[in-house]
Amino acid sequence: MNKRVKDVVDAIVSAVQRVLDEREITESEYRTALHYLMKVAEQGETALLCDVFLNSTVVATKARLSSGSTPAIEGPYYRDDAPLVVDRLKTYDTDDHKPLLIRGTVKGVDGSVIDDVTIDVWHSTPDGKYSGFHDGIPSDFYRGKLRVRPDGSFRVHTTMPVAYQIPNDGPTGALLETMGGHSWRPAHVHFKVKAPGYETLTTQYYFEGGDWVTDDCCNGVESSLITPDMVEEGARVMNIEFVIEPVLAHAGANS
Ligand code: DHB
Ligand code: FE
Repeated sequence: MNKRVKDVVDAIVSAVQRVLDEREITESEYRTALHYLMKVAEQGETALLCDVFLNSTVVATKARLSSGSTPAIEGPYYRDDAPLVVDRLKTYDTDDHKPLLIRGTVKGVDGSVIDDVTIDVWHSTPDGKYSGFHDGIPSDFYRGKLRVRPDGSFRVHTTMPVAYQIPNDGPTGALLETMGGHSWRPAHVHFKVKAPGYETLTTQYYFEGGDWVTDDCCNGVESSLITPDMVEEGARVMNIEFVIEPVLAHAGANS
């Protein structure tokens, strides 16, 4: 017997039962929903469907319990085997890919500089794809691990990501469309900030004024994650001051 599992499953079942009752769900609607869920599983979209509707809530709970920077959804495209990069992510070398400079600092919640900090950075190609997952992009492009300098600063050059359409040709996309929604995410850059003795911060930052910033299909945007429109020497600048917290600043509900 696992009390946490019992508590959570009982609560989920009660919540769903209440909706079935309040919305007066018919047997035919119930069967339509069952067939839909079977199709989601068959087509390998269980994680996608749950991520679209539920992941941002789990992240919001984490945000509420954290005293560091705002976390965000991880999405499916992190790779732990990304190369170390010094100054610049590897990108396609094409003139019309707009340059982006990502820079900033990493500090502890008490304002201190932290030793041995690594930042994983990953983002889409200018065609809205992710290396290592979508075909035809070298797996070390558009991603890498940065070592933060002893003074807490970091900087890396890359090119601008674009708005990203989650897979929309399966049952998840069909449901979003049936609900009058869409399957677009605003352009974003993913980060994972790691340091010994500190909670890992997984987050994403967005661009002020970008398409879909106010209407993300994954509901992943918080205002503190939108970076202002700043350009220096022809490059869009994303300036970020990460704050991370020591491990065990709070205990989980199951501990
Ligand atoms: C998905 C893709 C992303 O790039 C992301 O940041 C979040 C979610 C997705 O396909 O579900
Ligand atoms: Fe993403």
